[in-house]
Amino acid sequence: MEWQNVYEKRKTNAGAAIRRIAPGGRIVLAHAAGVPIALTDELVRQKEHFKHAEIVQLVPMGNARFADADMEGHFRLNAFFLGPYTKTAVKEGRGDFTPCCFHEIPGLFGGMLPVDAALIQVSPPDRHGYVSLGISVDYTLAAVKKAKYVIAQVNGSMPRTHGDTQLHVSEIDSFVEINRPILELTPPVIGETEQAIGENCAKLIHDGDTLQLGIGAIPDAVLLFLKDKKDLGIHSEMVSDGVVELITRGVITNARKTLHPGKTVATFLMGTKRLYDYADDNPSIALMPVEYVNDPYVIGQNDHLVSINSCVQVDLTGQVASESVGLTQISGIGGQLDFVRGARLSRGGRSVIAIASTAAKGKISKIVSVLDEGAAVTTSRTDVDYIVTEYGIAHLRGKTLRDRARALIRIAHPKFRRTLAEEFERRFCCRYDV
Ligand code: COA
Repeated sequence: MEWQNVYEKRKTNAGAAIRRIAPGGRIVLAHAAGVPIALTDELVRQKEHFKHAEIVQLVPMGNARFADADMEGHFRLNAFFLGPYTKTAVKEGRGDFTPCCFHEIPGLFGGMLPVDAALIQVSPPDRHGYVSLGISVDYTLAAVKKAKYVIAQVNGSMPRTHGDTQLHVSEIDSFVEINRPILELTPPVIGETEQAIGENCAKLIHDGDTLQLGIGAIPDAVLLFLKDKKDLGIHSEMVSDGVVELITRGVITNARKTLHPGKTVATFLMGTKRLYDYADDNPSIALMPVEYVNDPYVIGQNDHLVSINSCVQVDLTGQVASESVGLTQISGIGGQLDFVRGARLSRGGRSVIAIASTAAKGKISKIVSVLDEGAAVTTSRTDVDYIVTEYGIAHLRGKTLRDRARALIRIAHPKFRRTLAEEFERRFCCRYDV
């Protein structure tokens, strides 16, 4: 059959498409800016059809109403990452969190996690009958391949991107044409503290390095201090607007990359329309599945790979808690460990955990003697490399516990250094010398 006939036959409305999902099945949702909002809204509208359906997702964007208290009994969230909308559901016992490195999530689909339905968002088909997953390939491609039933929100605003983002219309069961702007992430406010952290991180980045940058104000602040660097490359889980700025200034050229030279490599994009427009039909940006982009062995094929991520707490031995505040899960592992380990495998690679020295408006130190009770260690002290704050850089790899503690106290906020030094003296039975 001609692809046009397949497409026309499978075109339907959101209501009819959602009603075909098994009431108690497992539904994988596309994530981040790729969330097919019209379809998730329809799920919520049809909540009475669903009995204990499991919703699987990584970064929640949009309203995530399916995780609200009035959805109990209809939907249950199984999250790989939490955001403001979903952390309450898990805290209140109405949802679950599954710890997993991002690059290993696709391997769960069809195995440990059979997928009944995948809800995705794509561009309209091209003249050969291929739609593009656009800005979000990550685990979405794998979910499509493993799902028994696939619904695509076909959105004229979805860019067509290069890399491994194409699906033939025959691989999708229902098409729902709904045009609306792709979700945008407002660029974060970069204050003085973030700028100082960014400036310190930039000291660890050299001409020709390939970078991975996490989400938020700190990675964006790092980009501000890279304007004088030359021939930087990008191999990153996520890319945001700041990267486009450095590409257009000629700072990021990808020219010296040892894997995919000439290409900015990512698994999803999250930012503003400027970023999405830039990626549209741009052969210099390659979006590929997360099981490839985030595989530490693939990451490690980039020489001089520098990864920059953030965390909640670091203890004096270098254990990094990035996903929970004590027993309370607040986010996820994402690609942090993938890139920390990938940077380790990279010739000349470095991994950086960059944090403000304090949290809660300066009331608590992020560098602590011991982690809060129940905190999950995301990056172990064996894997950790550099910790950076606005007060400096602590290089921990190969250092003794005492030397690590000294280095970390030096970059803690001055008002907490005395207390940390006392803890040091108790713990290591020796004087703390600055
Ligand atoms: N004690 C208590 N609360 C703390 C805290 C601490 N030591 N550190 C942070 N918090 C709270 C903040 O107050 C904030 O609370 P709020 O949401 O109620 O305002 C929340 O935790 C998030 O902290 P914030 O500093 O605003 O977060 P961020 O946007 O800089 O993100 C992480 C920091 C660690 C949550 C984020 O980097 C993350 O999820 N990392 C793990 C995954 C990862 O690295 N992925 C990388 C590949 S993209």
